[in-house]
Amino acid sequence: MEQATEICDLMRKVYESMEDRSLFVCDDEEFVRRHISSEGFTVLAVAGSSEIAGCFILRFPGNSEDNLGRDIGLPESALPQVVHMESCVVSPAFRGQGLQLAMLRFAESLLDNNKYRYLMATVSPNNPASFRTFEKNGYRVAAVKEKYGGFPRRIYLKEL
Ligand SMILES: CC(C)(COP(=O)(O)OP(=O)(O)OC[C@H]1O[C@@H](n2cnc3c(N)ncnc32)[C@H](O)[C@@H]1OP(=O)(O)O)[C@@H](O)C(=O)NCCC(=O)NCCS
Repeated sequence: MEQATEICDLMRKVYESMEDRSLFVCDDEEFVRRHISSEGFTVLAVAGSSEIAGCFILRFPGNSEDNLGRDIGLPESALPQVVHMESCVVSPAFRGQGLQLAMLRFAESLLDNNKYRYLMATVSPNNPASFRTFEKNGYRVAAVKEKYGGFPRRIYLKEL
C-alpha cells in the first residue's frame, strides 16, 4: 500500500507518453488502492531494491455490472468465478523483456483454482505488445466489443 502513489505515478507517466491513448485506460489512485487492499491484488516487477519497473492489477469483479463474463454470456452464477486481468504497464526503460508475461504468469500462480475459473482481459486490437502476451499464455478472443466509452476491445478468456 505504501507504494500505491508510485504505482499511480508510473501508470500516469506511461499513459501520458503514449502516442495513442485509446489503447490504455489509466486507473486513478483510489482504484489502485482498492486493488491492493480488497477487490483484487497487484503484482509488481521491481528492479534493484525498489524501482518499480512494471505493475499488473488483478480484480475480482464479483457480480458487478462491468464483470466481463456478462460480455460473453456467462450465467450469473458463474460471475464470481471471473478474474479480470485488469491493467498492466511496464516502464519504457524495462520493455522488451517480456515483463508483462512474467507478471501475468506469476499472478495466475497465486490464484485459487478452486475458486476462480474464468481469467479475462480486454485488449485493443491495436496493442500487439499486450495481446501477444495474452495469446502466448493461452488466452483466446471470446468477443470483440466497444468498451470504456467507445474504444474497440478484444475480450480475452482463458478457462481454467
Ligand atoms: C503492453 C506492455 C505492458 C508490454 O510490455 P512488455 O512486457 O515489456 O512487452 P514486450 O516488449 O516484452 O513485448 C511482448 C510481446 O509483444 C511483441 N511486441 C512488442 N511491441 C510490439 C509492436 N509494436 N508490434 C508487434 N509486436 C510487438 C514483442 O515482440 C513480444 O512478443 P514475442 O515475445 O512474441 O517476441 C507495455 O508495452 C506497456 O506498458 N504499454 C503501455 C500500457 C498498455 O498498453 N498496457 C496494456 C493494456 S492494459
